[in-house]
Amino acid sequence: MTAKILDGKAVAAEVRAQAAQEAARIAVQLGRKPGLAVVLVGADPASEVYVRNKGRSTVEAGMESFEHKLPETASEAEVLALVQKLNADDKVDGILVQLPLPKQIDSNRVLNAVDPAKDVDGFHPMNAGKLATGLPALAPCTPVGCVIIAKKAHGSLAGLEAVVLGRSNIVGKPLAQLLLQENATVTIAHSRTKDLAAVARRADILCVAIGKPEFVKGDWIKPGATVIDVGINRIQKPDGKTKLVGDVAYEEAAKVAGAITPVPGGIGPMTIACLLVNTLRAACARAGLPAPGI
Ligand code: GUN
Repeated sequence: MTAKILDGKAVAAEVRAQAAQEAARIAVQLGRKPGLAVVLVGADPASEVYVRNKGRSTVEAGMESFEHKLPETASEAEVLALVQKLNADDKVDGILVQLPLPKQIDSNRVLNAVDPAKDVDGFHPMNAGKLATGLPALAPCTPVGCVIIAKKAHGSLAGLEAVVLGRSNIVGKPLAQLLLQENATVTIAHSRTKDLAAVARRADILCVAIGKPEFVKGDWIKPGATVIDVGINRIQKPDGKTKLVGDVAYEEAAKVAGAITPVPGGIGPMTIACLLVNTLRAACARAGLPAPGI
């Protein structure tokens, strides 16, 4: 068997096109473009690439992008002051603080300072709590992207066995909540799980977000299962060059799975597309407009 490749890049392009259409409509109603502010502290090269891509996609979708860069040495008080300023700025509908933050800054304190109505990452405890209790919430972008892709492969997820490898607040936990909302039977497994491979083999939908290159092997996968690989790891090849790989050993997994997301070009592009949608959701909710139809 050779797995169907789940083309996140193509799906993300569709979502971004829909976001651009909705942004134009919402801009007319607001009398201004919806706005997304991104805060980058320090000069981590990967974060700089992400922030640049976010800014570009935001502008391409017809929204306003506000980029705020602070030096690596910025204090927690400076970052908090910037977040407060953005909270109070009416032109800013969404605020995203790029992670990781330098070590002198308590990430939780910063994330908790973001106005929950502008929390397009869905990381504020208020949004995490709403998601867990089934209330309308801004949900984290990567997990939302995973569910969109899983539904493309399966249609309904109701009754399917979903296994999430990884229990982070950014991906694993919110992804489990979203899969539960789709009526999947959800297991969260992690580094302390006994016989991770056996748990993974139960999955009709195996979602992997553990941050370890090519950790999940072909024989961890139930034949025909859908594999969603959230990992993006840069590894060195024997010739000294580097390449990006996921958390799943793609070549062997693709021989067993029914469908699989590639890395790159799978879940990565979905994250930014869902960020644009969350920015529109936040803009509409703040202005008392109906939610975007995406
Ligand atoms: N760093 C890596 N992934 C993310 C994300 O989804 N949001 C933010 N803010 N920072 C990140």
